[in-house]
Amino acid sequence: MTKFLIDQQVQDIELPENLKLNTFLQEFHSDCPHPECSFGFYGFAFGQSPFPVPKPVQDALIKNASKGAYAAVQGFPELREAIARYNKKNFGYDVDPRRVYVGPGTKELIFNLMEILHGTVILPTPAWLGYLPQIRFLKKNYHMLHVRSNGKITPNDLEHLTLRLHDRQKILILNNPNNPTGLVYSQLELEEITDVCRKHDILVISDEIYAQTTYDINKFVSMGRIYPEGTFVTNGLSKSHAAGGYRLGYVIFPQHTYDLRQQFKKILATEYTATSTPIQHAAIAGFQDSPEMDEYFEITRKIHQIMGDYTFQVLNKIEGVKTTKPEATFYLMANFNAYSDYFLANKISNSQKFSESLIQHPYHTALVGGDSLVLERTDFSARIAFVDYDGASAMQNYVHNPPKTASDKLEFVNNNAPKIVAGLKMIQRYLKDIQSKTDSEIAKLETNIKKTR
Ligand SMILES: Cc1ncc(COP(=O)(O)O)c(C=O)c1O
Repeated sequence: MTKFLIDQQVQDIELPENLKLNTFLQEFHSDCPHPECSFGFYGFAFGQSPFPVPKPVQDALIKNASKGAYAAVQGFPELREAIARYNKKNFGYDVDPRRVYVGPGTKELIFNLMEILHGTVILPTPAWLGYLPQIRFLKKNYHMLHVRSNGKITPNDLEHLTLRLHDRQKILILNNPNNPTGLVYSQLELEEITDVCRKHDILVISDEIYAQTTYDINKFVSMGRIYPEGTFVTNGLSKSHAAGGYRLGYVIFPQHTYDLRQQFKKILATEYTATSTPIQHAAIAGFQDSPEMDEYFEITRKIHQIMGDYTFQVLNKIEGVKTTKPEATFYLMANFNAYSDYFLANKISNSQKFSESLIQHPYHTALVGGDSLVLERTDFSARIAFVDYDGASAMQNYVHNPPKTASDKLEFVNNNAPKIVAGLKMIQRYLKDIQSKTDSEIAKLETNIKKTR
């Protein structure tokens, strides 16, 4: 049998965390011997919108299934125009369509941007688990910037770090709204960050894939508006249109970047020729201004908010647990560090072991631990995604009878997301069990000590 030699650079790359998570969940689940576990697990781990792909997008895809010709590298003009109009209408960001480039997902485009832009990458942490493997694969210099307790980077911390970096150009990855915290930067916060960026030659890749999920949409401000000469805005169909599997994203280049865009085109053409033609047609329907799309965004963000508020309230009622209060996305970040002594007493010495123990029988609860969010291994924080419910039926029920009062909303969660309700109870039970196991071990030890005296 031939032995295949694999390039050393690839061998050195760690499995990206999303693959790790998949493998881990599959392996674990097939191993569990208890028959009552056949339902699966409480899924707080995967970051996927639960809603159906909007009907106009599905229809456009079906209608254009016969279109097999290659598209232009940077995307169809009609799509780039639709994206430009979408940004103006929804986010007040007025851009020339020639600054919009379409690609097969924002993950790919972020990778392509880091390929062509020289400079040290500044990665705020906690971070989405997708960035770091890319940075490492590209062998970029990088520095982490750990956020303060309010969950956001501060201009002072950014400036402090930048003064230590010697590259002429730096690249800040700003993810706003943020995965994993669910937080949204205000206009003032973005302006203060921009001041530092202008002063120290920092370009920004502003990953705004969750922009449209901002619960109060007026609160979202695109970094592109604040720092138009230095920001690459990325967004796409994956989260707002529940179509991650369509693989379509876009980047809006900063102003005055004609030459850079030609270089970028070269890279895209070299790597993947163009984005799928039928998918681009579907995306035109998704970004076009229409009452159906407006209604879809409105309903889905309202449901995300109801689930987010519920998850926030339940978790923060558990003694010692603190979480961010999400203002967008379908995530929050929960801090379980108050339990670290109990974890250590139970041989749970790092966040990986924490997520492993929580998925064990009888808890079967999957979340993303701190090590997958680029935090210290001993930081017992975790990302909780609140999407484990049937989105299609939740949307129908919402339209039929929109919950208004706090008790309507609670009823809505109980009726539409029973696994979220039960899963959060499991987290509470797990923490209680860890505590009582430790207490009974201590009591046993004390009795033994007394006996030997
Ligand atoms: C912060 C963030 N950026 C980018 C992506 C990936 O987007 P796409 O599907 O467009 O590649 C995700 C998906 O989980 C994400 O959470």
